[in-house]
Amino acid sequence: MFAVADSASVSKPDLYAQLLAQARSLLEGERDAGANAANLAALLFHVLPELNWAGFYWLRDGGLVLGPFQGKPACVRIALGRGVCGTAAASRRTVVVPDVHAFPGHIACDSASESEIVVPVLRGERLLGVLDLDSPRLARFDADDARGLEAVVAAFVGATDLP
Ligand code: SME
Repeated sequence: MFAVADSASVSKPDLYAQLLAQARSLLEGERDAGANAANLAALLFHVLPELNWAGFYWLRDGGLVLGPFQGKPACVRIALGRGVCGTAAASRRTVVVPDVHAFPGHIACDSASESEIVVPVLRGERLLGVLDLDSPRLARFDADDARGLEAVVAAFVGATDLP
């Protein structure tokens, strides 16, 4: 239902255009944060190639707490400024890490992870959490992924009631 036709033969911008349309249709008519975040994590995990983890952390009481995800069980709480997630949250900027082993303070939840991208979930200037994707391939993520995922996150924020 949500497969993208042969992602290897589709350019990244085209893949993300298809993904954005699928995300919008998946989120349409439902505003519950848990349901929408869970379905979006599943969509990303199954449509984007070469991922071993995809999911959310929410800002709660000044730190990040694990939200809906696909992949192996992960660390539950991350302080702002710690790891890739805490760095993206503190800076409110997307962070692309080509080699997690070279990132100071990287938090290893799954030893298979080699590269990572973390996109802040923002409503205006307000930080709500982060979207985190991990890959078992080095340098899996680039500026096309950052742009594409930021658009998907914006669609999610617009379609969902978030605290
Ligand atoms: N690697 C992340 C921690 C979360 S897991 O990858 C799911 C980090 O350094 O913040």
